[in-house]
Amino acid sequence: MEGDACCFENWTIAGGDGLALLDIRNLNIRFSSSANKGKRKKAESAPFHAVSDLNLQVQEGEIVCLVGESGSGKSVSAMSILGLLAGTGRVEGEILFSGKNLLSLTEREMDEVRGRGIAMIFQDIMYSLNPVLTIGFQMVEGLRRHMRMGEGDARKRAMQLLEKTGLPDPQQVMRKYPHQLSGGQRQRVMIAMALTCSPKLLIADEPTTALDVTIQLQIMELIRSLRDETGMGVLLITHDIGVVAEMADRVYVMYAGQCVEEGSVEKVLGHPSHPYTLALMQSVPAIHQSRDRSLFSIDGAVPERYDLLPGCRFATRCPKRASCPYTADDTLYETSGGHVRCRLSAQTGGGAA
Ligand SMILES: Nc1ncnc2c1ncn2[C@@H]1O[C@H](COP(=O)(O)OP(=O)(O)OP(=O)(O)O)[C@@H](O)[C@H]1O
Ligand SMILES: [Mg+2]
Repeated sequence: MEGDACCFENWTIAGGDGLALLDIRNLNIRFSSSANKGKRKKAESAPFHAVSDLNLQVQEGEIVCLVGESGSGKSVSAMSILGLLAGTGRVEGEILFSGKNLLSLTEREMDEVRGRGIAMIFQDIMYSLNPVLTIGFQMVEGLRRHMRMGEGDARKRAMQLLEKTGLPDPQQVMRKYPHQLSGGQRQRVMIAMALTCSPKLLIADEPTTALDVTIQLQIMELIRSLRDETGMGVLLITHDIGVVAEMADRVYVMYAGQCVEEGSVEKVLGHPSHPYTLALMQSVPAIHQSRDRSLFSIDGAVPERYDLLPGCRFATRCPKRASCPYTADDTLYETSGGHVRCRLSAQTGGGAA
């Protein structure tokens, strides 16, 4: 490996000093909503506040899940970490990676962080792989560019990484174009590509949504074993509570652009406090559930302009809304071992809220 020194290599990586690998503080993301401005009411044409005051930490070697319904702000939060919203969204707050605020880095410095420090597996895989280049070419180019490797070393390393992800014939895979692989194979290739530069943090945005259950399980096991082997931190985005239960050390539940509950997986899934978390748990069909019993679903959908809602954003769908005296309150309360954005739950100790 030839690897020149770069600005990222000189950073101290989080460790025994108690510093989180990733420490997001008061993250706010706004998009200008200029479309149809003339036809909209004044409030509706105001910038769309997609994510409000998100605080999230990932420690070295930890798997943290970000879970929530479609449109709750999971992907934009992840993309803001890698500076991928520049030009479209306004990002405020602090995103500390090994103690450095990524929001204050230059584009060149950020380029070093992408890949070498943080790698991301995107939600839409077909957009992430270049359809007109072979897998081998894309991997070798990545290694040459980010790791400054020569052609031969890069090729050897690419094969090793593909092998590591369980692909049976790496040499063959290197010669193929993305459309010549199955969904599961493409997913493994994406993981191999994300690992090319030995990242400290892997962000995986719904990495198994399009895959069948057995392949999903294999991919999750792969991510977990790579975490065990390399000690990297993982931020895993999903809307699947089953994946959270299987994978997470800690979990953040998002609803309408806010974190509504946070804590260890045992706490959040074992004793959910927020009514939304509780509803998410009830929505998971049990394998032995009688076929006559109808499946549980949460009434309604995430409101489109959720940022314009005053107070509790879940109030319109909450089963307790009629008797809750606190619908005007959207404070995040500290609980034993976590946080919950519901005063009623915080007072009653959750679960029954
Ligand atoms: N470039 C953009 N401009 C304006 N609004 C955007 C933009 N990107 C995302 N949004 C809005 O931000 C909100 C959060 O989107 P995001 O993609 O983060 O949702 P998500 O939680 O990842 O959902 P899913 O589970 O469907 O992937 C949505 O209302 C979405 O429409
Ligand atoms: Mg998403």
